[in-house]
Amino acid sequence: MRVVLGVGGGIAAYKAAELVRVLQQRGCMVEVVMTSAAQQFVQPLTFAALTGRKVITGLWSSNSPEDTLSSAVEHIRVAQDHDTLVVAPATADLLAKFAHGLADDFLSTLYLAFTGRIVLAPAMNTNMWNHPATRQNIEILRSRGHVIVEPADGLLACGTTGPGRLAEPDDIADAVMKVRRDLEGEIVIVTAGPTQEPLDPVRYISNRSSGKMGYAIAEAAAVRGAKVILISGPVNLAPPAGVTLVRVKTACEMREAVMRNLAQSSIVVKAAAVADYHLSAVPDQKVKKTATRFSLELDPTPDILAEVGKKKTDQLLIGFAAETQNLIEEARRKLKTKNCDMVVANLVNREDIGFESDDNEVVLVTRTGDPVHLARAPKREIADQIFDHALLQRLS
Ligand code: PMT
Repeated sequence: MRVVLGVGGGIAAYKAAELVRVLQQRGCMVEVVMTSAAQQFVQPLTFAALTGRKVITGLWSSNSPEDTLSSAVEHIRVAQDHDTLVVAPATADLLAKFAHGLADDFLSTLYLAFTGRIVLAPAMNTNMWNHPATRQNIEILRSRGHVIVEPADGLLACGTTGPGRLAEPDDIADAVMKVRRDLEGEIVIVTAGPTQEPLDPVRYISNRSSGKMGYAIAEAAAVRGAKVILISGPVNLAPPAGVTLVRVKTACEMREAVMRNLAQSSIVVKAAAVADYHLSAVPDQKVKKTATRFSLELDPTPDILAEVGKKKTDQLLIGFAAETQNLIEEARRKLKTKNCDMVVANLVNREDIGFESDDNEVVLVTRTGDPVHLARAPKREIADQIFDHALLQRLS
């Protein structure tokens, strides 16, 4: 990620130096822009030493006319060279300028020219933070899709206690990493939820899948810039913003939707709990209850994952394995027999993870390297970690 960090003039400006270090540790290239007020608190040299780059301190160069001309368009160069603008600390003054489009210094000019993601970490006195003008400015900025990293509660430099302290550098870096766009240009197929296999016009076979895991994966991919085709069995979830939703009911319908979109896709994630058996010939009329024992003869459904494994060209194929025992062995078997690049092994006999729960805990099994255990976390976080590892897998 290429981050431009705007440092505003507040006592918390010194924490921006730590933020540079944390962002660099997470693999970001960082360039720093300081307002003139920020330079009253911290010397540009601190940031120059940390980044190894010249720090931008103003709109105008004091050197030759050529320098002045090039610095006059430098905000455009900086806007084009970076994908994320982070402002920390974002003072009340900067928030007001951004909200209302004032552009009278480098940072506010850069803000208007910037088309990438924007993360703002405000810091100020509690009364200033709570003032209706600041609240309105925050709402305006949020409505533009900017991420606001809320200030923390605590003792402030002015001696008062309350919200207004700059969030910790780790928390700001977490928010920055969440807005990464490393799936831009990818077309991701995600399957989610259960399938329903009809037995007659009123009955069906299905399973406990809520769709939460698959929808979390679809959301993570969309937020990271992918075009997402979410092929979903029947669930009670709203589709994540920006994804193309294809609703299906049966395994055969899911297979048809996956195959129709396979050629254009670059990543396929099969999180759906597809029924393994169905009734090939479904009666037209409701089956009547009788006093005698009733048995069903079922046929296997198409194994969509195995078929994708056979037909795929250069797609990254991520399957799931829902198991109640021998988790890793079963995942390895599925990885091999279904020609996957990664299998997400999921224990499904615990109440706190797997089916229906908001959290999950999984093991990533790949062709190379040891299995990677992802500790219990919200499914949305697990989704991000699956992509982090899948992208590394593609590079290896
Ligand atoms: O939806 P939630 O409530 O959030 O629960 C999440 C989950 C437990 C459903 C999910 O994390 C999960 O484990 N999904 C895979 C469920 C499953 O069907 O696993 P399996 O081991 O039976 O199948 C292995 C793989 O083959 C899966 O990727 C599955 O999508 C695929 N498959 C299975 C059968 C079939 N006919 N076609 C398939 O493509």
